[in-house]
Formats: sequence, structure tokens, C-alpha cells
Amino acid sequence: MQETLKQLETEAIAKVEAASSLKEVNDIRVQYLGKKGPITEVLRGMGKLSAEERPKMGALANEVREQIANAIAEKNEQLEAEEVKKKLASQTIDVTLPASPIKMGARHPLTIVVEDIEDLFIGMGYTVEEGPEVETDYYNFEALNLPKEHPARDMQDSFYITEDTLMRTQTSPVQARTLEKYKGQGPVKIICPGKVYRRDSDDATHSHQFMQIEGLVVDHNISMSDLKGTLETVARKMFGEDRDIRLRPSFFPFTEPSVEVDVSCFKCGGKGCSVCKGTGWIEILGAGMVHPNVLKMSGFDPDTYQGFAFGMGVERIAMLKYGIDDIRHFYTNDMRFTKQFKQD
Ligand code: PHE
Repeated sequence: MQETLKQLETEAIAKVEAASSLKEVNDIRVQYLGKKGPITEVLRGMGKLSAEERPKMGALANEVREQIANAIAEKNEQLEAEEVKKKLASQTIDVTLPASPIKMGARHPLTIVVEDIEDLFIGMGYTVEEGPEVETDYYNFEALNLPKEHPARDMQDSFYITEDTLMRTQTSPVQARTLEKYKGQGPVKIICPGKVYRRDSDDATHSHQFMQIEGLVVDHNISMSDLKGTLETVARKMFGEDRDIRLRPSFFPFTEPSVEVDVSCFKCGGKGCSVCKGTGWIEILGAGMVHPNVLKMSGFDPDTYQGFAFGMGVERIAMLKYGIDDIRHFYTNDMRFTKQFKQD
């Protein structure tokens, strides 16, 4: 019996050593150490042994098991280590390979213009306000000194939704909304970029939806020269340090006096070219001193407060700045167009 056990030990260990995979080792384990294995078989015959021999044989059988189990554990460890090595060898990464390029998006040119102007005004102590695109007739017109039936309403063909609501035709309603919020207490210094809507047939220079940036300052002792200085700063920021501006009389119901503002042509410097249509000047925005009625209606005392306001078309500025010849480019999302405005 002793011999059989020893033989089994030698045989099993030899097999384990020869094994080349984890599965093979496992099979050997089941074969020799399993309940139906030869060692269990041998031990079953122990009943025939004498009382002295029995414990000796039991101890030997346990030792044989242990030897085989040790050999298996050792082999497993060795095979696992080999496997890891193999994996490492087959999955090496070539760190010198060039990476596949990441496609970076570009900011929309209108976003660039809006953000540039926001930066400028935030630097001058303004805050950025927002207002709803679906607006009431009251804020879009009445609070801006345009009562119902006022002929100047025709200046802006509107998309009405109901009798009293419409898609805002300008960002100026945010003036009235902001003044109400300040409850008669200046100073107010805000800009408001946003989308506006007008009933227009789309062509190279008209779009039924476009963007404006509104500006409003209300405080004590505000004069036309504050407006001029502010707009000069904007013109120089957007079109270059050498630019001049000029104010031409105009009309808006919510400003008095009202002006149209031109910037000296950035292309020819004022001599006259195709961009400025030979005049040397390019119109960029409408502005004026806030009408006393507007201040009054929104809770400000026009005897102690004055203000200026301006509104500029973002598309127009972007078209001039980047030499874009058709307003529809902003809205067709052709990547060949938008990609050109990548900035670092
Ligand atoms: N809201 C005017 C327009 O859309 C522009 C403007 C704004 C004029 C503020 C004066 C003051 O034409």
C-alpha cells in the first residue's frame, strides 16, 4: 500500500510538471485528489490493515496528498506568471505611434462677436441681461413710447402670436424690463445680446431672425458725450484703434435725440471704397438719449435721471469684420464656412 501511494505521488508530480496549461493541471488535480481518485481508493482498503499500521498509512496518505497539492499550486503559479508575460508581450503599446487627430469645433462667428463685445462692456462695469424672445406688446412697443396705432410700429414688421404677444422685434424691451427691476434707483449699466425677429423676406442682407446687442446706461448727469465716448470704444475694439465715429440725426420713439452711428471705413481708412460704397463711413448702429417717457413709464424720475441707449446688429458687425457677403451664411451651418472662425 505504501508503495502504491509513493508511486501515485511520483506519477502525479511528474504529470503536473509536464503540464503546460492551467486546464491540464486542474484535470490532474481532479484525477488524483478528487473523491473518485486513486488515493481515496487506496485509503478505502485501510480497513484491512492492523491497528498499528492504520495511522501510519493515514499519515503517509495525507503527506502524499499534500505533496501533490503543493506541486499543483507551484505549477499553477508558474503557469499564471507565464500567461501574464505572454499577454504583456502580445499587447505592447507603441507609444511612438502618432495619435489620431481630435477634431476641434469652432465658435460661431456671431458668438465670437457677442463674446468680444460682452468682454469689453463687462470690463467697463456693465452687467449682461437677458429677456424673453416671445414678448408682450407692452414691453416691445408701449413701454418704449410706441402706443398702439403709433406709425413708427411700421418700422418693424412683426410676427404676432396673439393680439398681445409677439416675437420681439428688437432687444429694446429689455431696457424697460431692466428699468422696472431697478425700481427707480440708478445707476443702470447693462448690455443685452439676443435674437430678434422681423417679418422680412430673406436675402443676402435681410433675415427674419437676427441678433442685436442692446446697451443701456441710466444715472445722474449722463450726457450725449458719454454715449459718444462709449460707442467710440466699441468701434475701436471691433474695427481697430484708428477708427473714428460720427453721429447722424435719426429717429427712434424711445430715444430723444436719436442718432445713427457710422464708423470710419476700416478698409480704406475713409478715402472711399467698395465696402463703404465710396462714402468713407459705414453705419453700425442706432442710439440716443433715453426718452423721458420711457424712464417715467418704468419708474425712473426723468428730472433726476438721464440715460443713453444703443442697439447694434450683430450680423452686420460680423459681416463687416470678417468680410462675409451673405447674411444667410450664419444660419445654414455649412462647416466649410463655420470652420474658418477657429480661434486659439
Ligand atoms: N431698437 C432699435 C432698432 O432695432 C435700435 C436702438 C436701440 C436705437 C436703442 C436706439 C436705442 O432699430
